[in-house]
Amino acid sequence: MAKKLNSKIWPATAEEKNGVISLGGCSVIDLASEFGTPAFILDEADFKARALQWRTNVENSFGANAGITYYAAKAFISREIARWVSEAGLGLDVCTGGELAVAMAANFPSERIEMHGNNKSEAEISEAIDYRVGVIVLDSFQEIDRVARTAHTKGVVQKVLIRLTPGVEAHTHHAISTAHEDVKFGFSIASGAAWDAVLATTRHESLQLQGFHAHIGSQIFVTDAFETSAARLIGMLARYKKEFGSELPELDLGGGYGIAYTEKDDPISPEVMLSNLASIVAKECEKNEISIPQISIEPGRAIVGPSMITLYEVGTTKDVQLEDGSTRWYVSVDGGMSDNIRPGLYDAEYSIELANRDSKAELRRARIVGKHCETGDIVIRDVDVPSDIVPGDLLATPATGAYGRSMASNYNHMVRPPVISVHNQKARIIIRRETHADLLALEMDDAPRPLPSAEKGHI
Ligand SMILES: Cc1ncc(COP(=O)(O)O)c(C=O)c1O
Repeated sequence: MAKKLNSKIWPATAEEKNGVISLGGCSVIDLASEFGTPAFILDEADFKARALQWRTNVENSFGANAGITYYAAKAFISREIARWVSEAGLGLDVCTGGELAVAMAANFPSERIEMHGNNKSEAEISEAIDYRVGVIVLDSFQEIDRVARTAHTKGVVQKVLIRLTPGVEAHTHHAISTAHEDVKFGFSIASGAAWDAVLATTRHESLQLQGFHAHIGSQIFVTDAFETSAARLIGMLARYKKEFGSELPELDLGGGYGIAYTEKDDPISPEVMLSNLASIVAKECEKNEISIPQISIEPGRAIVGPSMITLYEVGTTKDVQLEDGSTRWYVSVDGGMSDNIRPGLYDAEYSIELANRDSKAELRRARIVGKHCETGDIVIRDVDVPSDIVPGDLLATPATGAYGRSMASNYNHMVRPPVISVHNQKARIIIRRETHADLLALEMDDAPRPLPSAEKGHI
C-alpha cells in the first residue's frame, strides 16, 4: 500500500511504497533513469491547487475589495508556469526584463502584470509600457521621472504604485527582511521620502497613482509585522485623502508568506493569514476613515515552494575524524550550492529522504553536501538518515520549488538541472538540463577591436 508523505513539506501527490517515493504517479527511480539527476520534480496538480487556493482565499477574505493575487515570478518562472498562473486567474509580479520576457513569451495577460525592481533600466521600463503592463511599482525618485518620461513619449498614462518602506522588522533572516529602514527598496515613510514620492508622482500627467506597496520580507510566519506594515500604509492612504481630497484605490501587501521546509516549521495557512490581514485592513481603514481599497498580494514561495522536490543521487560517503574525537559522516550528492544556494545564503534548513528503496538500518547523523569546491556547499548541515546509504542511492529534498532553480548558478561549470513536471503518471520536461555545449556556446573567439572613443582619437 502506498503511503502519503507529510503534506506539510511534500507536494500533495507525494507517496511512498516499499521505500520508493513517487510524485504525480511517477516513481523517482523512473524519473532519475529517464531524466538524470540532479533534477527538480514539479507536481503540476499541487502547484495549480496552491495558486488557486491563494487567489480564492484573497477573494473570500477581502470580498469586493479583493485585488489581484500576483504570483511572484522570482520564486520560479518558465513559460509553462506563466500559463498555469494565468489560467488560475492570478497576476504575475515580474522584476526584470528577463522575467517580463517569459511573461510575454507565454502571452500573459498584460493588464495582470505588475512590474517591480529597484533599478529598472530605461529599456525595461520601455518594454513594460509597450506591453501595457497593468502597473509599475516605483522605487526611486529617478525612476518616477524615468517612467513618467517614457510613458509621456509613448503617449500612455501608466498606472503606478509607490513602494514604501514601513520601517518594520520582519521576524526572518536579515538578508530576506526588506522593510526596515536600512534597505535599498522603496521610500521610507518615517523619513518623509514616501510623501515626497507621492508629490513627485502626482506632478506627472503621464502617471496615474493607484496606491502603495510594501513587501516586508520572506518566510514570515506571524501576522504582527504585516499588521504594523498595513497600518502604516493605510496611514499614508489617509494622508493622501486629507491632502488631495480623493482616495487611492489600491494597496499591495506584498508576499513573504512562510512555508514548512522541515517538520518543525509551522506556517499559518493562507485562510488564516488572509482573514487576519482582512481584519487588520478593515480595522485600520475604519480608524483612518477611508474606504477599504482593493487589496493585492504577491506570494511566490507559498505557491511554488512546496510543489517541487529536488532529486539527487549519492556519489560518495566519507567518515571524517573531528578534533573532538567524534566522526562526521559526509554524504555527497551530485548537485549542491549550484541548485540550492539558500543554505549557504541564509542558513536555510531542509529535509531529505532516502527515495529509492526501503531501509531498516539504524539512523545515522549525516552532513549532506554537494560536489562544489566550497566547504560551505552544504545541502543539509545535520540530518538523521539510514546508515546504509551508499553511492547510487537517490535522495529527495522536498520544498525546493522556490528560489532553487531560479537562483541556480553554473558555479564550477555545473549545468543547471532540468525541471520535470509530473501529473497523472506522466512526466514532461518544462525546462531542460543545460549541457556543456550550452556553457561553451557563450564563449567567443572575438578579435580585439578599438572602441568608439579610441576610434575618434579621444584616447
Ligand atoms: C516585492 C516582492 N514581492 C513578492 C516577493 C515574493 O516573496 P515570497 O516568495 O517569499 O512570497 C518578493 C521576494 O523577494 C518581493 O521582493
